Amino acid sequence: MDRLSLSRKEFELFKNYIYEHIGISLGEQKIYLVQARLAKRVKQLQLNDFGEYYTTLINDKTGNELEYLCSLISTNVTSFFRESKQWEFWKTNLSAMMEKKNNKLRIWSAACSTGEEPYSIAMFLGENAPSMDVKILATDVSPRVLKEASSGTYSEKAAGSLGSNYLNKYFTKVRHNEGHLYTIDEKIKRHIVFRGFNLVTGNYGIFKEKKFDIIFCRNVMIYFDKPTQTALVQKFYNMLHKDGYLFIGSSEALTDIKTGFKSRSASIYQKV
Ligand SMILES: C[S@@+](CC[C@H](N)C(=O)[O-])C[C@H]1O[C@@H](n2cnc3c(N)ncnc32)[C@H](O)[C@@H]1O
Repeated sequence: MDRLSLSRKEFELFKNYIYEHIGISLGEQKIYLVQARLAKRVKQLQLNDFGEYYTTLINDKTGNELEYLCSLISTNVTSFFRESKQWEFWKTNLSAMMEKKNNKLRIWSAACSTGEEPYSIAMFLGENAPSMDVKILATDVSPRVLKEASSGTYSEKAAGSLGSNYLNKYFTKVRHNEGHLYTIDEKIKRHIVFRGFNLVTGNYGIFKEKKFDIIFCRNVMIYFDKPTQTALVQKFYNMLHKDGYLFIGSSEALTDIKTGFKSRSASIYQKV
């Protein structure tokens, strides 16, 4: 098949679809990125061009193609204990942050990707607040990453950064091909519930009156435009208990967003 070319008109169709369904806002300069990422899928599905792919996408009532599109457009890059400064802040301020919590902590890892973030939270609390009753909701829009996250099994490359203390204490190591795989233990897993949830188009009604002590929403808002970020941050604000915390990615900030949050450290905000 010749090299596929995405016309401006087709780009506009995908751009609008992606904005409406995933919340990711693509600038005009992203046309080549979209062309390159979608071309692979067009070939895989043995379609003739982007127009046919667009028709396939909008007619797919299962939502599977939308999820696939999402994984093509956004990145799932993550790692254990990502953003080291935030964990240091949490460790230093843990007792103050845990005050008046009745020994219960409810945490949401929104956009958890393959699970390294919620498992890091559970291990961190296992180390630093072992008697706390901890429940973590971990969500993502992509079923593919959620499947990996719930399996809790990681390659040597992904788990290697953890160091032997965490690996020996919280993982089971099994031989795999030439190397090893590491599977997280049930004592950590049992704190976490994995669910599919789209932060932009999802029905927040399902949370009912559920409130969190801490929300992690790291390295995903960067893909959203200001109105989408503003609406999301307001939802997070409403879903946190008073004094609750919002952790965002280090390349993100709430600077242009009017909120009731107070900045406590780089990329860490508190509801006051
Ligand atoms: C770069 S990863 C961030 C993972 C983790 N929070 C971290 O900081 O390491 C971004 C994740 O956001 C998810 N994502 C993208 N758009 C989303 C949306 N509209 N709703 C929920 N998750 C979304 C992607 O599937 C991906 O797993």
